[in-house]
Amino acid sequence: MSKDAYRPSEHPDRNLAMELVRATEAAAISAYPFIGKGDKNAADGAAVDAMRAFLATVDFDGVIVIGEGEKDDAPMLFNGERVGNGNGPQCDIAVDPIDGTSLTGAGRQNAISVIAVSDRGSMLDASSVFYMDKIVAGIEARGVVDIRKPIGENIRALAKAKGKDVSEMSIAVLDRPRHEDLIRQIRESGAGTRLLLDGDVAGGINAARYESRIDMCVGIGGSPEGIVTACAIKALDGFIQGILAPKDDAERQKGIDAGLKMDYVYEANELVASDNTFFVATGVTDGALVDGVRRKGPIIRTDSVVLRSRSGTIRRVQADYRADRWGY
Ligand code: FBP
Repeated sequence: MSKDAYRPSEHPDRNLAMELVRATEAAAISAYPFIGKGDKNAADGAAVDAMRAFLATVDFDGVIVIGEGEKDDAPMLFNGERVGNGNGPQCDIAVDPIDGTSLTGAGRQNAISVIAVSDRGSMLDASSVFYMDKIVAGIEARGVVDIRKPIGENIRALAKAKGKDVSEMSIAVLDRPRHEDLIRQIRESGAGTRLLLDGDVAGGINAARYESRIDMCVGIGGSPEGIVTACAIKALDGFIQGILAPKDDAERQKGIDAGLKMDYVYEANELVASDNTFFVATGVTDGALVDGVRRKGPIIRTDSVVLRSRSGTIRRVQADYRADRWGY
């Protein structure tokens, strides 16, 4: 948890959600010219600049808990940076201007621009350990699935809770050599995999969404992505657990020094202690969660989801911008 104490009375209100979506829309539109052009850093840079400019105008006093990294490496949206115009509620912010920078550079599906917000002091600062082992699913997983159990057991338990046959279960997992054994075990259970090239935030949210084709998202991905996903899962009333997965002893010690717990199962309420969370995502490229940015004659169209835990609402926001105003 960040240093400031958690003060639930000073919570962000519902208007904030619609302000935030402007920032992810701006980031996605700014990355649009770089889609498929092979330069992921240029795409990310454009998205970061646009997001930062929009966040500066929002009525809140935000602190970036999950950002683009440490101050020296990331000149903008670095961890600890204050954003917003300083008026309004005190918030913790997690940003991922593009989750799927490589996808964007390559012109592949499933890249999104993301912001998550919660009450000040409520987000776990897991930035000192890069990776987290996660398991994300819908509400049916509660009291049924446990990250400590073998994956086959979890799949069978979730299938039973959902009233599905195991053979109908689809499990999303990042396609990485580290997951070779996990992928084999999923298939041995009788379930199918949905291998993600990148982007386990969208993968996790899809797993928790009602009527999604994905039943569960598992495996090791970024810890920042885990916190961002937890904000969405609270709004979706879903299920998430995470265990930090340090690369080596040095990173493990760094995490311990930062107050993080190793070999410990973080539940949703520990990843984000507030029940007042916001999550907004705009599609950069087309995906199962949202459509990507598209040019339609004189307009640029964006597609976003806006989730708010307090009300439990899930909004789909389509916006048409005049392309000439963006210099396109
Ligand atoms: P970036 O777009 O920020 O690079 O993140 C993409 C991503 O796939 C995340 O969604 C995921 O959590 C992480 O990278 C996995 O890391 P790695 O590519 O090192 O396995």
